[in-house]
Amino acid sequence: MKTAIILGSSRSNGNTAKLVDYVSRRVNADVYDLNQYRIEPFNYDNRYQDDFGSLAEQLLEYDNLVLASPMYWYSASAQMKVFLDRISDLLDFEKGKGRQLRGKSAGLLASGNDSTPPECFEQMFELTFKYLGMNYLGMSYASFGQSETLSQHTLALDEFAYQFQSAAKQG
Ligand SMILES: Cc1cc2nc3c(=O)[nH]c(=O)nc-3n(C[C@H](O)[C@H](O)[C@H](O)COP(=O)(O)O)c2cc1C
Repeated sequence: MKTAIILGSSRSNGNTAKLVDYVSRRVNADVYDLNQYRIEPFNYDNRYQDDFGSLAEQLLEYDNLVLASPMYWYSASAQMKVFLDRISDLLDFEKGKGRQLRGKSAGLLASGNDSTPPECFEQMFELTFKYLGMNYLGMSYASFGQSETLSQHTLALDEFAYQFQSAAKQG
């Protein structure tokens, strides 16, 4: 069972990246930083000159996909939202690829300033995973608003990682 973590943040070494780095070591996951890829916003013509198609092909090789996003204005980062919108291509134009997402496990790593995110933050991801037929294993959210450090979040991150390790054993 292979796990990929997809980081969508305005900074590749920020708070969300710290969570990604920690969890990727625990579950031996490969990390894909969206800042390293050119991904155009969705358009209805399906005409792009970017890296989404090749990135999607690589990601479809994994059993578990973890999305990692900071909370920007109670929502996903713009980088993550553009990536999610483009998954529509896999459903509309390359249906076979969209179907390959079914049955994969999914998770969410998130960071923010608030101690807890509003329900709508996680719900957007949860409903998207559900629509895609993915098995959502939950979110690990870490607050950095009170100058917290990573070490204050490692217990929760260990629990999160454990779910993916368990999914790997069952697979
Ligand atoms: C544009 C922007 C919007 C933000 N909106 C929120 C928000 O709605 N709620 C919140 O708790 N924190 C918010 N924050 C704080 C970030 O979520 C927090 O600092 C996060 O850990 C940053 O992660 P990063 O280093 O990966 O960017 C915002 C930060 C930015 C830059």
